[in-house]
Amino acid sequence: MKFSRITRREFVSTTSRVVAGSVALGMMPDALNALSPSLKKRLAMVGTGIRGIRMWGRDLLEAYGETHEFVGLCDINPGRVAFAKQYIGADCPTFTDFDTMIRKTKPERVIVTTVDGTHHTFIIKSMQHGCDVITEKPLTTDEMKLRSIIDAQKKAGKDITVTFNYRYSPHRTRIKQMLMEGRIGRVTSVDFNWYLDVYHGADYFRRWHRLRESGGTLLVHKSTHHFDFLNWWLDSDPEIVHGFGALEFYGKNNAFRHTHCRPCPHKAKCQFYWDMTKDERLMNLYAKNEQYDGYTRDGCVWKEDIDIFDKMAVQIRYANNVQVSYSLTTYSPYEGYRIAFNGTKGRIEAWIHERQPWPMNDYHEIQVTDNFGKAEYIRMPQGGGGHDGGDVLMMDTIFRNPGTRDPYGRAAGLRDGAMSILIGIAARKSIDSGKPVAISELTDIEAREVRGEM
Ligand SMILES: NC(=O)c1ccc[n+]([C@@H]2O[C@H](COP(=O)([O-])OP(=O)(O)OC[C@H]3O[C@@H](n4cnc5c(N)ncnc54)[C@H](O)[C@@H]3O)[C@@H](O)[C@H]2O)c1
Repeated sequence: MKFSRITRREFVSTTSRVVAGSVALGMMPDALNALSPSLKKRLAMVGTGIRGIRMWGRDLLEAYGETHEFVGLCDINPGRVAFAKQYIGADCPTFTDFDTMIRKTKPERVIVTTVDGTHHTFIIKSMQHGCDVITEKPLTTDEMKLRSIIDAQKKAGKDITVTFNYRYSPHRTRIKQMLMEGRIGRVTSVDFNWYLDVYHGADYFRRWHRLRESGGTLLVHKSTHHFDFLNWWLDSDPEIVHGFGALEFYGKNNAFRHTHCRPCPHKAKCQFYWDMTKDERLMNLYAKNEQYDGYTRDGCVWKEDIDIFDKMAVQIRYANNVQVSYSLTTYSPYEGYRIAFNGTKGRIEAWIHERQPWPMNDYHEIQVTDNFGKAEYIRMPQGGGGHDGGDVLMMDTIFRNPGTRDPYGRAAGLRDGAMSILIGIAARKSIDSGKPVAISELTDIEAREVRGEM
């Protein structure tokens, strides 16, 4: 057995030469990059919740504030947007009406971080006002909204970036590299299982994500990342999807329930009781602003209105004939995933644990086994920062080094955003109807056997 251990320093050095080798070409020292306020890129944000204020707000200004500025922040909740301005440290007006914000502040780029089911409204309006768009995943939640985004983009000709931060984590990039090199021959099938644990998984059932109309079910909200990996890793488009799913754990499947955790009379006996009062930031962002919209961040996981699935299995056939078996479980004792690529010359597999009740390693391991041969174990240091280091690398690509060529093609646009949600939408429809769904029933986008450069 061969161990090739890659240290963080080696990885960073390799990525600056290989992955971001081209990135370095377009890079200027920050001091030279600093611009006067009038020359800075003008950003606006709609949806100042937790994702908005942290990564797209405070982190963005801290890292790229010399070249970018916020000219407007918007949220339907006036208390939340006021807190957001202070938390982000932005020197700009706040709005509860998106059109007014765009008209008055004239941004160049709009960052969309609202509830998933509303993304399309702001993506379309932004482009109609002549702005480029950076949207959080999922691009949108159903095929009609997708069609309207595609039509609007054709008319406006503006750029849409879909922020698939997960692509950028070092070990996923390493898998992409091995697949591109044909390390296991031609890939024929993939086994992919994702486990959300009783903390993170349960949290989706507390929040707006519990409703189909808001998040499109976790097959869209969450699995959009996983389906995007598959499309990107396999470099092909999905053609046929067959899904199974049910709600058998959360929601109506419990003897007791309440509205939300803070006033709950069942605190002592509920294993899912969560005390958000211990988190000052969440109290400031959500609890103090419940008076405006009635939204409770610590909603009961046993609410009877929950209409999404908590166990899901999906079979996908790709245009290049690869077949995938995928599953998503939302009440596991540990958090992470297992993936295996079966190829004509061997197998690549990885077990990634993001949280577990036993001590964590400081590396992620990838096993490559040659048919009739040996196994090689590759240990990748865990990336620093959010989403295994993916957030920082993606932000650098968007704000520091736009337009530079990435050999791994990690930057994602409209087509990538569309193809990933279409798998989730098809799976949802398949679960509802009991029949397989062809992607071509949902979109005019033609499936490519090899996606190639987007
Ligand atoms: N890529 C990732 O890893 C990642 C991680 C977390 C969240 N996200 C995405 O970020 C987005 C925001 O998620 P979040 O966790 O911050 O949720 P959140 O509930 O904290 O924030 C959503 C915000 O949108 C606002 N909003 C809802 N409808 C609106 C409307 N019509 N007009 C204006 N504002 C509106 C809400 O008031 C809220 O402040 C989602 O699309 C989510 O999928 C991505």
